[in-house]
Amino acid sequence: MTGTDSPPCIDLKDIWTTYEGAAYPVIKGVSLRIAAGEFVVVGGPNGAGKTTLLEAICGLLPLVKGSITVCGREIPKEKIGILCDVGYVIQNFDFHPFTPYTVLDVVRMGRYGRIGWFSRESQEDLDAAMEALRLLRIDHLRDELIGTLSGGQQQKALIAHNLAKKPSVLLLDEPFSNLDVMTRDEVSSLLCDICESGVPVVMVSHAFDSLPRRDIRVVVMQKGKLVLNTTSQAGDVADIIRSAPVAG
Ligand SMILES: Nc1ncnc2c1ncn2[C@@H]1O[C@H](COP(=O)(O)OP(=O)(O)O)[C@@H](O)[C@H]1O
Ligand SMILES: [Mg+2]
Repeated sequence: MTGTDSPPCIDLKDIWTTYEGAAYPVIKGVSLRIAAGEFVVVGGPNGAGKTTLLEAICGLLPLVKGSITVCGREIPKEKIGILCDVGYVIQNFDFHPFTPYTVLDVVRMGRYGRIGWFSRESQEDLDAAMEALRLLRIDHLRDELIGTLSGGQQQKALIAHNLAKKPSVLLLDEPFSNLDVMTRDEVSSLLCDICESGVPVVMVSHAFDSLPRRDIRVVVMQKGKLVLNTTSQAGDVADIIRSAPVAG
């Protein structure tokens, strides 16, 4: 089942969030329902609250008002469960060159939330990590130290980390920013497959030429408010975002 009539995997009801010490709420009264198999692009200007929205969905920010449910689990009651279940490719990262982990280590860490407290990594966990490396075409880098790779290679390792997790919901914050054009197309097609397997994909992106050719839900944030929520047939996402109404 896909579309807005299906039961939502992500359900935001009039959410207001803020950062500790911030004078004003950053997200103001956002309601949004995202169903299984939906591909959602979040657009809007810098500072509009796109990253904050993704952080709120993961339960990383306190809710001032409203409610968030992800795969039937409510934040903040089941925050750890949500963190284990949600894939989140963050926007800003930079591994120090001396970071003592290989690419394979980083991708294996994606499984940690799936391994029980008193259990050890199983063959299934290792297989999931190896499959994610292959999907991102970075298996040849598995023994390299993560901090010695290029920004784009690190980006792919972070995506692989989140795919190894086999998430129920996948959030990505500007995942194409470090990637070359060919790799963008490969990752885009991968995300399309994940989405078609039923996992909703929510992506903040300005790289509209790298979006998959399928129905895309376009959500536009401005000044912490959701000003547009519509569906696009591939190709016109940039125009839709440009013509979004201006928040008051
Ligand atoms: N850690 C933080 N503490 C306080 N304010 C923050 C923090 N991170 C972001 N903000 C503020 O929240 C607003 C939205 O930021 P963000 O969600 O990162 O925007 P976007 O991702 O759309 O560019 C901005 O005004 C920003 O200054
Ligand atoms: Mg951002």
